Amino acid sequence: MTTAQQPVRSGFGATSTAEEVIKGIDLTGKVAIVTGGYSGIGLETARILHDAGAEVVVPARDPERARAALKDVPGVEVEHLDLLDPASIDAFAEKFLASGRPLHILVNSAGIMATPLTRDARGYEVQFATNHLGHFQLVERLWPALVAAHGARVVSVSSRGFRFAGVDFDDLNFEHRPYEPFVAYGQSKTANALFAVELDRRGRAEDVRAFSVHPGTIIDTGLAKHLSDDVLRANGAMDEEGRPVRDPDRQLKTVPQGAATSVWCATSPQLDGRGGDYCENCDISPLVAAEDEDAWRAGAATPGVLGYAVDPELAARLWEVSERLTA
Ligand SMILES: NC(=O)c1ccc[n+]([C@@H]2O[C@H](COP(=O)([O-])OP(=O)(O)OC[C@H]3O[C@@H](n4cnc5c(N)ncnc54)[C@H](OP(=O)(O)O)[C@@H]3O)[C@@H](O)[C@H]2O)c1
Repeated sequence: MTTAQQPVRSGFGATSTAEEVIKGIDLTGKVAIVTGGYSGIGLETARILHDAGAEVVVPARDPERARAALKDVPGVEVEHLDLLDPASIDAFAEKFLASGRPLHILVNSAGIMATPLTRDARGYEVQFATNHLGHFQLVERLWPALVAAHGARVVSVSSRGFRFAGVDFDDLNFEHRPYEPFVAYGQSKTANALFAVELDRRGRAEDVRAFSVHPGTIIDTGLAKHLSDDVLRANGAMDEEGRPVRDPDRQLKTVPQGAATSVWCATSPQLDGRGGDYCENCDISPLVAAEDEDAWRAGAATPGVLGYAVDPELAARLWEVSERLTA
């Protein structure tokens, strides 16, 4: 069993930018939080939501650096939050709730990729803890503000890297299997997609809808800092001169193109009444069969999501485990 995953034929695509997909949408009076909104795709997402009239809050583990990065986006509020520090998530959420504001848009864009094996203070593997558990806790704590919006959207920035691995419920923290950086990344990105499925199921009655997103491959952000140029060249994402390769047909995108699907999911009326879906190239992705994996591994960028990343039963199981791990 999976989500509907029915493309809506949005009219946008791999080359669409965040500015293009938000054209004509007025966010005056709306409040948005963008995690990771001070670098890469998140920074562009924060800028575009702000330019459309939203009041934007950016939680940052380094507020000074965030303020510097956001200097050209005046009026964005920067608050301290480290997704690996549960107390800081609680403190951020408490402060936001105390302000009495509803939360119309939450874009969970912060993330790390392919780190060497590292554990947080609780012993949790940091890619799972940052990319999934931190955002899970944040959404739970901000829940009253999401409900108060009477029509909220939560965007979980996942990745087609979910294909590297499903969620291993028997060994989430790599205590009994060898650590592989991309397996850990894949597990966390599958968790991002599953999170949107169960969040949407739980939120529907309160008009809190959720989507997950693959932004494309954008190597000129901070995400690839643990990868060598050789790896990026071997993947066809970097040319011999060290420049990013741009090829939207293979989802090799610019930052404005990379932010487009997040912004589309957060704001587009084309998604009214929908939720739980995995999206890319500014549309809901079709469900594809595992056999298509060969094409993907060969470098094709055919859009699509595999069943295990949008499976409601796995999503419900992940929710229960996450509640326990963040209690
Ligand atoms: N770029 C791509 O090709 C690509 C492809 C697929 C999916 N994605 C996803 O897109 C999202 C954004 O990536 P990006 O490319 O824009 O990367 P980025 O430029 O590195 O941005 C990531 C942001 O997350 C923040 N962050 C990391 N750990 C944090 C923590 N513990 N607490 C709070 N914030 C934290 C970073 O802050 P610091 O600077 O303080 O670390 C940074 O602002 C990620 O979820 C990524 O998995 C990206």
